[in-house]
Amino acid sequence: MELKEAQFQQKVEEVLKALEGENYLVEPQRLKKLVEILLRRQKDLVLFSENVKNEHNFSALIRTADAVGVLNIYYTYDGNKTKIYNEHITMGSHKWVFLHKVNNAVETLKKLKEEGFQIVATRLAENSLHFREVDYTKPTVVIVGNELDGVSEEVAQVADFNVVIPMYGMAQSLNVSVATAVILYEAQRQREAKGMYEKPQLTLEEIKTILRKWAYEDIIEDRKRV
Ligand SMILES: C[S@@+](CC[C@H](N)C(=O)[O-])C[C@H]1O[C@@H](n2cnc3c(N)ncnc32)[C@H](O)[C@@H]1O
Repeated sequence: MELKEAQFQQKVEEVLKALEGENYLVEPQRLKKLVEILLRRQKDLVLFSENVKNEHNFSALIRTADAVGVLNIYYTYDGNKTKIYNEHITMGSHKWVFLHKVNNAVETLKKLKEEGFQIVATRLAENSLHFREVDYTKPTVVIVGNELDGVSEEVAQVADFNVVIPMYGMAQSLNVSVATAVILYEAQRQREAKGMYEKPQLTLEEIKTILRKWAYEDIIEDRKRV
């Protein structure tokens, strides 16, 4: 086993030891898997979806975010559905990321900026940077926009960078979920190169709080549904 991975597994064991005595309703192997996921979560890589409306697209965003290690997705949505993802498309990944619906995108983004995040808006604009020119290893919010209207002008104003994925074909833009995957996987590539997936960002207390939900409260809710 590579040294980095061996050190990571040692951290997993330390956390599992610290969790002894907690009351969870999952098998030990499942708990280990959840701890591994949490130790790799990138708390400082946030996805912001501005009014993405199609449930297939939004579900695909969630699934990609989970795969890349994103913990928090913020979103605005002015449609009339109470749930904008489809569990068959997320393949369960909606359980492992936190979705925060917000009313005021600009206010939320300004707050995240104050917390030290750089704000990167994906925009098909002439003055946008090539998406690979940004350093995504910094605390980063990636904004993706509505299927028709894109990222709004007022949201783009808050951004530190606008980025574009070059298009060399006839189509003017990518599907929003594809564009999200391209950007988030660039962030993943950069973060992997810096060993960020082996350097846990969540504290033990944060891990305990999340596991209380994932490995206890959610299981009770699931059992009630059966
Ligand atoms: C279908 S596009 C929206 C197109 C819209 N007419 C516009 O001009 O922005 C939906 C979202 O996908 C993302 N996107 C799609 N293609 C992109 C590209 N080539 N570069 C950057 N973002 C892209 C952006 O977040 C965009 O807001």
